[in-house]
Amino acid sequence: MIPPTKNRKLIDWVDEVARLTTPDKVEWCDGTSEENDRLSQLLVDAGTFTRLSDAARPGSFWARSDPSDVARVEDRTFVCPKDRADAGPTNNWMDPTAMRDKLRGLFEGAMRGRTMYVVPFSMGPIGSPIAHTGVQLTDSAYVAVSMRIMTRMGQPVLDALDAIGPEADFVPCLHSVGAPLLPGQADSPWPCNPDEKYIVHFPETREIISFGSGYGGNALLGKKCFALRIASVMARDDGWLAEHMLILKLTSPDGEVRYITGAFPSACGKTNLAMLVPTLPGWKVETIGDDICWMKLGADGELRAINPEAGFFGVAPGTNALTNPNAMLTMRKNAIFTNTALTDDGDVWWESMTEQPPAHLTSWLGESWTPASDGPAAHPNARFTVPASQGPSMAPEWEDPAGVPISAILFGGRRSSVVPLVTESFNWRHGVFLGSIMSSETTAAATGAVGKLRRDPFAMLPFCGYNMADYFAHWLAVGKAANPERLPKIFYVNWFRKDPQGRWLWPGYGENSRVLQWIFERVSGRGSAVRTPIGLTAPASEVNIDGLDVSDADMEMLLTVDDDEWRKEVPLIREHFSIFADRIPAELLSELGDLETSLGLEHG
Ligand code: GTP
Ligand code: SPV
Ligand code: MN
Repeated sequence: MIPPTKNRKLIDWVDEVARLTTPDKVEWCDGTSEENDRLSQLLVDAGTFTRLSDAARPGSFWARSDPSDVARVEDRTFVCPKDRADAGPTNNWMDPTAMRDKLRGLFEGAMRGRTMYVVPFSMGPIGSPIAHTGVQLTDSAYVAVSMRIMTRMGQPVLDALDAIGPEADFVPCLHSVGAPLLPGQADSPWPCNPDEKYIVHFPETREIISFGSGYGGNALLGKKCFALRIASVMARDDGWLAEHMLILKLTSPDGEVRYITGAFPSACGKTNLAMLVPTLPGWKVETIGDDICWMKLGADGELRAINPEAGFFGVAPGTNALTNPNAMLTMRKNAIFTNTALTDDGDVWWESMTEQPPAHLTSWLGESWTPASDGPAAHPNARFTVPASQGPSMAPEWEDPAGVPISAILFGGRRSSVVPLVTESFNWRHGVFLGSIMSSETTAAATGAVGKLRRDPFAMLPFCGYNMADYFAHWLAVGKAANPERLPKIFYVNWFRKDPQGRWLWPGYGENSRVLQWIFERVSGRGSAVRTPIGLTAPASEVNIDGLDVSDADMEMLLTVDDDEWRKEVPLIREHFSIFADRIPAELLSELGDLETSLGLEHG
């Protein structure tokens, strides 16, 4: 077939990869709905997809992954600059030449018996000055149809590249499920490689190579691999920020608008906050993005944010008509559900979708399931994949290439103790300090233990494409480059506080609008705050709890900073900073010193 582009580098690369991986054929994706229908039918025929009933969810499919391939694999994810120190102590590293040799061996013949799809995609609106182009080569049709939802994908991307010229640049993203087929060998419904997985980034040459997994961030390479790990390096070099953040638009009853971003670790509430339905009368939240945010300085020195994605890959369990009605409405059609359960009448179900589970289901493992069965019906990291454009809560400006001006940046995580409901930082530098010491209990979004407390600075621990200490320094530098009058205020929130008996102290979800209201007042130069060693907290009198079933004692527990508990945190923060040795910015050590002083501690 004649390649539908004049791009030399792309044509040569496709040829070279096809020679190495020996697929049966090469198909260039155009992104049309005809193509999507054809590939979806192919996936149905292969047993990967089950078509959901038209009455339940038109244009939608249920997929079950291999039980060994259910989440991001952080221990198999590598960042490979020439110098190990540039990857930093928080990334897995291998010498790039050695890694390329290793990968060449794995990719040799890896696509035998399969089709190699050429998937051109744009992160950000096609042709816009803020967008960046990638091309993913993949032997997974599931990945190709998912990329069509999650990014702007297809021929218009190639046309935009060609409009720049035959030398136009793009980020090459090579992906194989790592399961070649011998002639006549039957395929499995979810091909992957149970023994070898490599999710690899070459920041200096801006390349991504992923082998062995077909799931989520391991395989949809525009998302974490490109828009976070590689983009964070581009952002460092060019003075902007690529972040694991939601972006929301908050409108007050008076019609005043503020845009807010929020960094929360995986499965810690970004999608829910971005689509929140306020319980406070007159307030409105609209969605710009739910997972990734690119922020650049505008003409007036303000930080402007865009969502580089076009779809949501959201956590299903916990999502329901009460917690997130906007997500439920978004996924009524044209959705892919992976590792949820299937109902007997051709719809999907997951834990807490309805108060009562259906009497009978097919579980994510493909087994007959009843409420008496052991284990959940859906995998805890089951996900829905849907076009953002279908969301009723999308702000009209969500695709504006100029982005939206940010007034507040939230950091947060799952902390059952110590961290209060909301804290405002003293200033930008202190806010960067708060981001750098973020910690959260691990979730099912990555393989490994769940509920284990770990440091996850800026919610970027698994996603920063370079030395995290340099990343902290970059945040400090962006603060200095911005217009001080337009610098967003930084807040630290925690929806996940529990009492000693393990009961949630805060109802969360739509009730989080009560905290957003205080934040809105603070960024508007109003409202009062209480000074504590770790920042400014909201006085209980300033958080509107009208109609809320939370006792005064619980509010007290939620808003109080316990100096004793924080004195115990300080040595842990020192230890956390010590892994970066002398690369840690002096400003952050000085913030830590100030915290020690205000807690009455000796400097460590
Ligand atoms: P990624 O897509 O993995 O980056 O996650 P995310 O940050 O978008 O997390 P998401 O909003 O999907 O939430 C993950 C889980 O946390 C879901 O099960 C939610 O129901 C639950 N959750 C979200 N917000 C709240 C909250 O305010 N309180 C409580 N208790 N749970 C919440
Ligand atoms: C996350 O883990 O933060 C996600 C899901 O958003 S994945 O795309 O699989 O990384
Ligand atoms: Mn995420």
